[in-house]
Amino acid sequence: MIRFDFSGTDAFLDKGQWDGAVRRARAAHSAILSGTGSGNEWLGWRRILKQPNDALLEDISLLGQEIAANADVLLCIGIGGSFLGSEAVIRALSPYFRPSPAAPDSHSTHDSQTASVSRAATGQDKKPLEVLFAGHNLSSTYLSELLSSLEGKSVYVNVISKSGTTLEPAVAFRIVRAWMENQFADCDRRIIATTDTSKGGLRKLAAQKGYRTYAIPDDVGGRFSVLTPVGLLPIAAAGFDIRSLFYGAVAMMNELHEVEGNPAIEYALRRYALHEAGYATEILSVFEPKLAGMSAWWQQLFGESEGKEGRGIFPAVCTFTTDLHSLGQYIQSGRRNLIETFLVSEKDRLSLVVPPDNDNLDGLNYLTGQTLKHINQAAYDGTTKAHSLGGVPTQHISLSTINEETLGQLVYFFEHAVSVGGYLLGVNPFDQPGVEAYKQEMFSLLGKK
Ligand code: PA5
Repeated sequence: MIRFDFSGTDAFLDKGQWDGAVRRARAAHSAILSGTGSGNEWLGWRRILKQPNDALLEDISLLGQEIAANADVLLCIGIGGSFLGSEAVIRALSPYFRPSPAAPDSHSTHDSQTASVSRAATGQDKKPLEVLFAGHNLSSTYLSELLSSLEGKSVYVNVISKSGTTLEPAVAFRIVRAWMENQFADCDRRIIATTDTSKGGLRKLAAQKGYRTYAIPDDVGGRFSVLTPVGLLPIAAAGFDIRSLFYGAVAMMNELHEVEGNPAIEYALRRYALHEAGYATEILSVFEPKLAGMSAWWQQLFGESEGKEGRGIFPAVCTFTTDLHSLGQYIQSGRRNLIETFLVSEKDRLSLVVPPDNDNLDGLNYLTGQTLKHINQAAYDGTTKAHSLGGVPTQHISLSTINEETLGQLVYFFEHAVSVGGYLLGVNPFDQPGVEAYKQEMFSLLGKK
């Protein structure tokens, strides 16, 4: 279940413009439902939920289990929408650290692109599958170190690219493919390609090599593709329940059908009203670092969908309380054009209590017996109050807990809201023409014909 509270923006809204904006937001919502808005050939993110393909979900789950049973590592190669969704869900659901029987690892994985995964399904004697990512940067150091770390391990690869031509994953895959061919006699069996139904270099290569493949539906754009095989296969291999994720999204789609009391319309509407009033940046702030991947996914969804034609709110992300000690100063008293949306979980998976200490040299005895959750909650409530008093409109999205179902609900909520938001801004939320500009410059420097 997800709870929404938008009241912290009330005082910042221009009520004079409100009624007109409400009418337009409702019209945008209807255009999404009826498929009559701009970019309506890209509404597959709703179509797949309206016509669930249970056989496909089952097939992906089975391949996920095969990978989990046979591999130490699943290396996912992709960028943007072909990377962020699965990384976000896996990070949200995975333990922070991989327990080692010899010496428990206590080093933070906060900045790593590793999602460590515990899976009951694979038995006692096999280490849990690790899902790693490549093709989302052009760092030779990253890829070299990654390949070195894979020596001696059983590796499967899921190369994911809708176009099949994006430079970063294509280059990474060429290098990884050569490495795989060198390492494994059954290399082609270990590579799964997720790509366009018929077009693109990757589709051709997969056919030639006999890789197993999944198709990305023609009407689903990259950043809306987490609930297609793009996101579902890595998530299933990581041991998570893709049916609950998928049907969580279906439930949210049904919940957001009506106009009255629709939180996605409300969120889009308030962001739009604030945008028109000059608010240029929205920060999605989390108090549980496991949700940082979801904020990165949200950042792409909103940035690529809305940032067009000189319009749109810049989506920024913060992980608290870490970033209260870096960006907190700016949010509290820098330029007053920020909106802050808190994305939180009401429940912690594990609990810790502050122990007693007779000496009390750290002066913390007033917290003895308190849970860390209670302290983090006070930080959250205190931050909300302080930032509001500092002139930041705030709103809250609270997951009852972090699991497959609530993450599926959240995915659909944001997809629907950004579509309404794009229409309110008068842009096509489903294209990304601006992404081509850097590619053209780069290709000309690289001498591409
Ligand atoms: O949202 C999008 O369309 C983009 O972020 C793409 O997902 C990204 O550029 C990767 O494209 P592709 O899957 O074609 O390699």
